[in-house]
Amino acid sequence: MLRTILLGPPGAGKGTQAAKIVEKYNVPHISTGDIFRENIKNGTELGKKAQEYMNKGELVPDDLVCEIATDRLLKDDCKNGFLLDGFPRTVYQAVKLDEFLRSHDMKLDVVFNIAVDKEILIERLTGRRVCKACGASFHVVNIPPKKEGICDVCGGELIQRADDTLETVENRINVYENETKPLIDYYEEAGNIANINGAEELDVVFANIVKAIG
Ligand code: AP5
Ligand code: MG
Repeated sequence: MLRTILLGPPGAGKGTQAAKIVEKYNVPHISTGDIFRENIKNGTELGKKAQEYMNKGELVPDDLVCEIATDRLLKDDCKNGFLLDGFPRTVYQAVKLDEFLRSHDMKLDVVFNIAVDKEILIERLTGRRVCKACGASFHVVNIPPKKEGICDVCGGELIQRADDTLETVENRINVYENETKPLIDYYEEAGNIANINGAEELDVVFANIVKAIG
């Protein structure tokens, strides 16, 4: 049983670490960003709404996000835990999540605050490539795929995310500073935060997460 949140700026490595955590602890990976991208790909109404905000690096409105996240948390596979990646992202969302958890008799085990300096974030995001088919994440320099442009995991095509241009990345980092960073204090007060240095090599980051889970 593990109920956890990965908190961190864009490019901190939330998605990368999430893939490793869900494999080891066998809990579902819930990324609101991934849910929106899937909806954009499928041309749904939700996707159309979310895309407007995402392409500018702005946050999707709170109520829409909260509904999507809590609907997902009600699915059977979350009974034995979950890993939230990119949700909550505002104090409002965190309060809503707390209300939801309380009303379902659930408690968070730990919230990981993955910290990385801005220059590194920019370098990581502008060099990131993701698999169009399975979503696996690579980096042109740091984590290159075995074959350029091809996913190691499934053989799919690697593409650049629409919001990984320099201008949008800078806005996403500003939005993080203003809207999401206050959550560090929020969870510090709740007493269940674990600070992780996300600038280290990815296996080192993962080892520190595993240590904190205990
Ligand atoms: P979302 O998809 O959540 O994006 P994000 O938070 O901006 O974070 P990223 O996915 O860009 O970064 P990551 O931390 O997952 O890093 P990764 O592991 O890929 O959200 C996108 C948008 O959706 C938002 O802007 C918003 O519009 C909307 N949205 C989503 N949730 C919302 C919410 N709750 N409320 C409102 N709106 C919401 O790694 C990055 C790169 O670095 C990769 O290339 C990777 O290979 C590399 N890397 C990772 N770890 C390391 C390492 N240790 N060393 C070297 N390189 C590394
Ligand atoms: Mg991600």
